[in-house]
Amino acid sequence: MKVLKIMILSLIALGLVFSAAFAMKHMPEERGKMLFNDAKFAGGIKACNSCHPDGKGLEKAGDKKEFMIMGKTQKSLEEAVNFCIENANKGKALDAKSEQMKDIVAYIKSLGKKAGKEMPKKSPGY
Ligand code: HEC
Repeated sequence: MKVLKIMILSLIALGLVFSAAFAMKHMPEERGKMLFNDAKFAGGIKACNSCHPDGKGLEKAGDKKEFMIMGKTQKSLEEAVNFCIENANKGKALDAKSEQMKDIVAYIKSLGKKAGKEMPKKSPGY
């Protein structure tokens, strides 16, 4: 009986460790990055990464309120993402509230934070 109890307890402990590790590896921005690099994302034929390598050029997108892509205006980051999905990736627009959209948005917002860290820390000399 005792052995069984120990076995069950250690199984539970093992499960907890694994799910914690899984959760860490699969943070929204990590998942977003995977989608960003996936040519089949949203049913498309191209990865976002092929035009925005490592998210280059999107560092400010997380703070913007309005976007202009290929001469068309988008009123939110979600709309801008969907615009690229439909017109660049040739995929299907995502629901703005879907998990995948949240993950992609989290990834794009994380780009701006990284850029912020690289900003010079010196204050202007006047
Ligand atoms: C065929 C090339 C191409 C692909 C693929 C592509 N984009 Fe774009 N994207 C552009 C161009 C061109 C612009 C407009 C010019 C710019 O701002 O760099 C743009 C702009 C954007 C912007 C607005 C940037 C800003 O600050 O105004 C976002 C956000 C964006 N893309 C996200 C994505 C995402 C997410 C994907 C994948 C689903 C993707 N793009 C795939 C070409 C592409």
